[in-house]
Amino acid sequence: MKIFCGKAGKNLGTKVAKKLNLTLSPVEIFVFPDLEKRIRIVENVVNEDCVIIQSASIPPDENYMELFIMIDALKRSGAASIKAVIPYLGYQRQDHIFRDGEAVSLEVIAKILTTLGMGKLITFDLHSIKIPELFSVPVEHLSALPLFAENIKQNFENKDFVLVSPDMGGIRRIKEISELLENATFATIEKNRDLGNGEIEDKGLNGNVRGKVAIIVDDMISTGKTLVEGAELLINEGASKVYAYATHPVFARHSDKLLQHSKIERIVVTDTIDIPAYSEFAKLEVLSVADITAKALKSS
Ligand code: R5P
Repeated sequence: MKIFCGKAGKNLGTKVAKKLNLTLSPVEIFVFPDLEKRIRIVENVVNEDCVIIQSASIPPDENYMELFIMIDALKRSGAASIKAVIPYLGYQRQDHIFRDGEAVSLEVIAKILTTLGMGKLITFDLHSIKIPELFSVPVEHLSALPLFAENIKQNFENKDFVLVSPDMGGIRRIKEISELLENATFATIEKNRDLGNGEIEDKGLNGNVRGKVAIIVDDMISTGKTLVEGAELLINEGASKVYAYATHPVFARHSDKLLQHSKIERIVVTDTIDIPAYSEFAKLEVLSVADITAKALKSS
């Protein structure tokens, strides 16, 4: 097996390769003055099983484009198979039509990836479990929830805690982690967004958090508003402290500052997305999904 990385997959890719006792295979990426890229696979990949690790994090269009061209380069160079590990699958929130006239952006991405020659997709904590249906090739849907459950066990074992889903769309996820924690109790926030501008319109709580440590579990943090406003609601409802766990640190628009100055004590994320040094903050803790990814590659 040969492992290649795009620029948005270097951090995780290096850890995964090490766990598999491999070194990353080099990719030559030349950027032209107009920002177009020329990508070249340097090694011989004829009849090799190849893996590309690349997150579709910010800027998603650029990172996807790099991945598309890498798949094409591998295909033309004679690779026997091409698996894409896209730890954070960008555009996944547009997996269906919400309002007349919209595109299904994720289906566009799926079509391009499979047409180019991606034989399998490996990804983490998808927004909806129906997303694999948009792909005509196998999708291995991995999860960081076991990592989070382990971390919660270590840190909150003797505390009176309640898991919280920050929206009704996260019910499946919260039930899953509750099961991993011997059916820990959970509450859900009802959050409605304006489909036009994406702003959160109103919120309410189902369940009781009074006097308890509230632990919010979500799939991603983009602007950080869901967590920050959710934490305020939980404190107003009597939670003693609020912690947050989310798989994908998308971190758009200065969310680092918003989160650092929020009522949340600690924010735990994973390395499905590389966090640039300027987006790190004191309350942030990063767990690695390298082990889970390496095991999936080994057995697939
Ligand atoms: C929404 O349905 C997702 O599960 C996340 O809660 C959301 O994408 C987070 O976005 P933001 O950080 O911008 O509130």
